[in-house]
Amino acid sequence: MRIRKAVFPVAGLGTRFLPATKASAKEMLPIVDKPLIQYAVQEAISAGAQELIFITGRSKNSIMDHFDKAYELEAELESRGKTKLLETVQDIVPPGVTCIFIRQAEALGLGHAVLCAWPAVGDEDFYVILADDLIDGRLQPALAQMHRVYQQFGTSVLAVQRVPKEDVGSYGIVETQQVGPGLSEIRRMVEKPKPEEAQSNLAVVGRYILTPRIFKLLERTQRGAGGEIQLTDAISAMLNEQTVLAYEFEGTRYDCGSKLGYLRANVEYGLKHPELADDFREYLRGLTADWQGTPKKSRA
Ligand code: UTP
Repeated sequence: MRIRKAVFPVAGLGTRFLPATKASAKEMLPIVDKPLIQYAVQEAISAGAQELIFITGRSKNSIMDHFDKAYELEAELESRGKTKLLETVQDIVPPGVTCIFIRQAEALGLGHAVLCAWPAVGDEDFYVILADDLIDGRLQPALAQMHRVYQQFGTSVLAVQRVPKEDVGSYGIVETQQVGPGLSEIRRMVEKPKPEEAQSNLAVVGRYILTPRIFKLLERTQRGAGGEIQLTDAISAMLNEQTVLAYEFEGTRYDCGSKLGYLRANVEYGLKHPELADDFREYLRGLTADWQGTPKKSRA
């Protein structure tokens, strides 16, 4: 059992990042030197995806350009002998992987964006990845960890993470019954509950394995929280018909849809970057020494 198709809903308005997202896509914001969407694509490919389906909206042309061949740039890099950079550009989409772009005419919500993928996904199980949830998997990318669970159970699998009780109102929250370590069956799912009403603090984050049944259910889903067609509501309906598992992945998640999460990701990926790590660490040491009033070290 393999999953070949991955859906990337990238049509949101990205209002929390205005004005940066006025004319360009939130998913193109870089973490050090790679845009968020490229991390997401690499994660999908590492979990076996070969067909990448992007649900795009206005101001998202840069995403299409990023995954397209750049003849002039490649010729220029080649003529200047910049082989390493040329490889970096050419490796963005490996051979055998194809990209499909579907336009979501109106940002009617994540559920609606996923529904737009139906003609391209057809009757297959598929991945959904939200690129602004960047996950640094401890042993394996999060989606590959979820794929292992899928191979064992053959059902829908959602990535979940425990969040502080006061934050539950920002997430889809699940009530579950444990079936193994880090793995449970979802009994109930509520989008953005009030903290005093939430029955758990297990939050759904931006990785899903879904069966195609979701499309029929999305078709019937009315506007929910925030006036949007919510994926959570369709998954809730699916719980009456199919098993849906919640998997607590191993790794660190950075909520790059928020400014603080985005800054954290840049700092932590910067500290691991092969070319930058040493200089950047030295720079941060100097900065924190300033804050603590200790003598300055030389800066990068
Ligand atoms: P968010 O809730 O983060 O919304 O969407 P957003 O518009 O991107 O950002 P803010 O909250 O206004 O700052 C979660 C994911 O669903 C996609 C987004 O692109 C993001 O990946 N999405 C959301 C769509 O593709 N279409 C929509 O109509 C809504």
